[in-house]
Order: sequence, then structure tokens, then C-alpha cells
Amino acid sequence: MCQGVAEQFGTPVWLYDRATIEARITELQSFDVVRYAQKANSNLGLLSLMRKHGVVVDAVSAGEIVRALRVGFSPREKVSGIVFTADLFDRDALDLVRIHRIPVNIGSPDMIAQLAEAGIQVPLTVRVNPGFGHGHSRKTNTGGTLSKHGVWHKQLKDTIKVGKEKGLPISGLHMHIGSGSDFHHLSQVCGAMVEAAKLVGSDLHSISAGGGLPIPYRKDQLERIDVAAYFKLWDEARKQIEAEVGHPVALEVEPGRYLVAESGYLIAQLRSIKKVGNRLFYLIDAGFNDLVRPAFYGSWHHISVIPADGRDLGSARVNAIVAGPLCESGDVFTQEEGGFVVHRELPVAKVGDYVVLHDAGAYGAAMSSNYNSRRLAPEVLWSNGKPLLIRERQSFDHLLALDKIPVELS
Ligand code: LLP
Repeated sequence: MCQGVAEQFGTPVWLYDRATIEARITELQSFDVVRYAQKANSNLGLLSLMRKHGVVVDAVSAGEIVRALRVGFSPREKVSGIVFTADLFDRDALDLVRIHRIPVNIGSPDMIAQLAEAGIQVPLTVRVNPGFGHGHSRKTNTGGTLSKHGVWHKQLKDTIKVGKEKGLPISGLHMHIGSGSDFHHLSQVCGAMVEAAKLVGSDLHSISAGGGLPIPYRKDQLERIDVAAYFKLWDEARKQIEAEVGHPVALEVEPGRYLVAESGYLIAQLRSIKKVGNRLFYLIDAGFNDLVRPAFYGSWHHISVIPADGRDLGSARVNAIVAGPLCESGDVFTQEEGGFVVHRELPVAKVGDYVVLHDAGAYGAAMSSNYNSRRLAPEVLWSNGKPLLIRERQSFDHLLALDKIPVELS
């Protein structure tokens, strides 16, 4: 599938497997609401697929609201198709929330006053910072006093009061302690939620466990998160809360990575093999402008080689550093947090072979940039045995479209 897609669409190219996404959606069906954190990958084709399966979305920016509306998510459904969740409103987002009456999950107390000032009446939930957090990197830990996210748990009571006074009662609670966390840390959130729920009382109609569900990036890491056990913990918390507030409470989950990461491959071509001292470099035509996670977090992505000429790769392995085309030495896919370059045991490859970075469906294309004026790569969805193009390769005209040369400079 990878080689055919590379030959048809060129490299670098993103490939997502529809069946994998659908399998992950099915695994989460015990939750009342699966709300996809579209920041992981907001391609309209993938959002449409989510919608087809009854998954709703969150939006963290005006652009994400526009994307959700474009594929038909409606904020008017009983369970809103879109919830705007953020720690501040910029003007564009506030305008869209007003125009489309989009429910808001507030992450800062000031947002209530801003809604009231703008005369906006929408259902409100609060993202609470429970005082602790955990993520796969310091950059993805969203709890505790060093995090900008959420309403500090000790301010929740006041925030609820202000909401009531301004005619904007809080009807839901949300906790997301970090991304790429683990079962142990995620499960601690349930207790914090039960405590927070007592403060809201009978106005409470929904709770969200947030996202953060990890996936096994390393192929030697066989254990997957036990989704059924995770649901059970949350369901128990929900039942305690229902007993407290005296009516049913909907249980949401808000994963990004879990739904799409494993479906995705970044397929590149090996363009140069060179020795630097005694080190071996495999240079490929994708860079951190495409997949930034290794450079930004020191993240591990499994790497495989596909022989372009169909030869048998055999069992011989070499230690290679896999790097991209960017004019910056940090453009290396085999590095650890802090920028320490490491090698990977890989097959003996030839120029022209394909190199595939795995588990790249989440925070891959979504975090791409035009650095070094490289064009955004196309995205392809493998669906029922065939490739569907869901984003074209950016054209050079599009790359330059927004730049202006003022007359006095021409
Ligand atoms: N909900 C909220 C409020 C979030 O802030 C996030 C992620 C999610 C849900 C989804 O988290 P997930 O299920 O995907 O772990 N760029 C980083 C991840 C940053 C996540 C930011 N917020 C990475 O590449 O690992």
C-alpha cells in the first residue's frame, strides 16, 4: 500500500488507513460521547469520516470551528457537534461562537465576563486544572501550577458563582491533564472529577475525561492502554456523581492521538546515503517541516524501509541516522528529547528506496509548516482497498499566494 501510494502521489506523502481509525472509534463506543480533538489531524476528509461514525469534535481555534462547520457538524444537536475549548477568546473565535451559538468549554475565568459582555448565551462547561498533570513530554503536561490550561481547582467555586450571576450557568466539567499520559495518571483524574462535581451540584449534566490516551509508539512496547478498564473507572465516577446530583450525567471522552495516530504513515524517499566520520546518514525527502515530533519532543516513531526495486532486504542491519532535507542540523528523525542525535538499526537501503515513519497520523500533518519554503505534503486515505486523495500537495502558487511585493520595492 505504501509503495503504490508513493508512486502515485509522489513523496513525501501522508497515508492514513481508514480501517484503523474505525477500529479505534469502535473501541471507545462505551462512552456516551466520543469528541475527537481535531487538533491531532483536522483534515476535512478525516473529520467527515468521524462524523459518519457519530463522533463529534472539539475546536480550539476559529479555524477549527470553520473546519467543523464545513463538514456539517452542528452546534444545535442535543449533543453539540462542536464545542469550543480554549483558555482565551481571540476576536475571530468569539465572533464565530456568537454567530453559530457554539457551546464553550472555558479554560479561564475571564472568559465568562467576556461572553456576558458580548451578550452571548451559550451552554458552558469548565475545564478544570485539578492541580496535577502528566504527559509524554513536559510540553504536553497540562495540569499543575506550571500549566496555563484550565480553571485552577481552587477557583472553581468562584467561577461557578460568577457564571450563575451572569446568567451563564456551568452545566459540565472537563479535565484533561496531558497528552500521551498513562493509565495510572489518567485514572487519578476520576477522583478529582467527583470532588469538582460536588461544587457544581444539580446544574451538572456532563463530564469529560479529556483526551491523553497513549498509543504504543515503540514496537517493543506491546502493552496497549486498557480502554475497557479506563471506561470502567470513569463509569464508576460518573455513577457517584449521578448519585450526588440526582439525575443522569453524560460521560464524554476527548481523544486526538488515540483515534488517528496509528492509522498514519509519512512516506518519504531515500535521496542520499552518506558517511560522516564513522556515522551513516540516510537522508530522506521529508523533514521536520512535515513531521516535527522528533525534533520538538524527541518523540520516537518506528521507521521501516521499503525496497523500491522489490529486492529482498535480508536480515543485515546497519546503524543509521535518519535525517531530512532542511537547512538545520536539528532536522533528524532519530533524536531524543534535548536534541541528542541517535542512530537506528535499519536494513541496508539504497537511494530510491522508501522510508516510512509510522504512527504519524496524529500531530503530523497538523503540525507541518512551510519552513525552508517546502510545500505541504499531500494526504491520502486508504479506504476499502483504494487510495483517496484528501489533501493535494500544496502548489508553488499557493505557497507564494499571500506574499506581497509593495510597488516601491518592485
Ligand atoms: N483535549 C484537550 C483539551 C487537549 O488540549 C488535547 C491535546 C486533547 C484533548 C487531545 O489529546 P490527545 O488525546 O491527542 O493526547 N503535539 C503533541 C500533543 C499536544 C496535545 C495538545 N492537546 C504531540 O505531538 O504529542
